[in-house]
Amino acid sequence: MITKELGDTGLVVTRVGLGLAALGRPGYINIGHDSDLAGRRSKAGLEEHSHSVLSAAYAAGIRYFDVARSYGNGEAFLGRWLLDGNAAEPVVVSSKWGYRYVADWRIDAEVHEIKDHTLDNLERQIEESRENLGPYLAVYQIHSATLDSGVLDDAAVLNRLTELRNAGLTVGLSTSGPQQAAAIRKAMAIERDGSLLFGTVQSTWNLLEPSAGSALADAHAAGLGVLIKESVANGRLTAREPATSSRLVNAVPGFSADAIAVAAVLAQPWVDGVIIGASTKEQLHSNLRALEIDADQVRDLPGFAENPDEYWARRSRLAWT
Ligand SMILES: NC(=O)c1ccc[n+]([C@@H]2O[C@H](COP(=O)([O-])OP(=O)(O)OC[C@H]3O[C@@H](n4cnc5c(N)ncnc54)[C@H](OP(=O)(O)O)[C@@H]3O)[C@@H](O)[C@H]2O)c1
Repeated sequence: MITKELGDTGLVVTRVGLGLAALGRPGYINIGHDSDLAGRRSKAGLEEHSHSVLSAAYAAGIRYFDVARSYGNGEAFLGRWLLDGNAAEPVVVSSKWGYRYVADWRIDAEVHEIKDHTLDNLERQIEESRENLGPYLAVYQIHSATLDSGVLDDAAVLNRLTELRNAGLTVGLSTSGPQQAAAIRKAMAIERDGSLLFGTVQSTWNLLEPSAGSALADAHAAGLGVLIKESVANGRLTAREPATSSRLVNAVPGFSADAIAVAAVLAQPWVDGVIIGASTKEQLHSNLRALEIDADQVRDLPGFAENPDEYWARRSRLAWT
């Protein structure tokens, strides 16, 4: 698969990576999650299923994988799949600290994850991530750094991240919410020992929510590796939403809405990689057809962008299923 340098990090990623947000725990917010994982949500069943999707991704050329402490057993699933020798070629693995999984493997839990951007939680979670991923862990990101969490002003946390960077880990952040651009610009300004602290940024950009685009372009120009998540808007840019889907398919005949949505991300010059969230092999192969689409056809698809506040408000109402 085509690869790209991940900013100035020295890492090289395949243009498409696979994320395990929908594969590491029985409940998640993506539309249709329950039907896709039906009957495979026991710890053993989901591990087996996640391994089958990971192996299909690897066979398709994917060599970049993203996970987080809050994705249930996602890190452990990925770690065991790697330790079982399923990846003969080098892979790049990123994980995230800053949310704790608290759903106890229940789908109907009141709360599934708790935000905790404290130094104590960083110290705890880096040990847990290393336990699960060992030498494969290359990029460690703050999970959904927002201005109001205060983590980007927390000197103790930033100093600890500097130590981790100086010890060889690439330190990054992910962003969420209608204020992504502000968090990206604040993070880009943080230097330690004469260079940018953060080497990568992982943000939501898709045809419905492109508002972080210019901040991401500036981050890329400054040397940060830019990774895009939620390229199909948690399922809203797929056949599951017929109205939006038919408009997309009419715009680029011959391809599915999800493939077109992923291709629109890859067409942005400041994107190094897109992290797809396929929860089945069928979705994976459908998403990967994005690589067959001519970037010029999808770089500027008009008429899909929503008001960011409404987009994120709607996302926050998505049920955990
Ligand atoms: N804050 C953060 O740092 C953060 C937040 C979100 C995601 N991420 C990362 O980004 C990755 C991807 O994000 P995401 O999964 O949240 O969002 P996404 O990629 O926009 O949505 C993926 C979901 O869309 C549905 N889908 C995909 N292809 C489909 C198809 N062909 N037909 C029907 N449905 C299809 C599936 O949902 P169902 O299986 O439910 O149908 C799939 O799980 C995650 O795994 C994670 O690594 C990070």
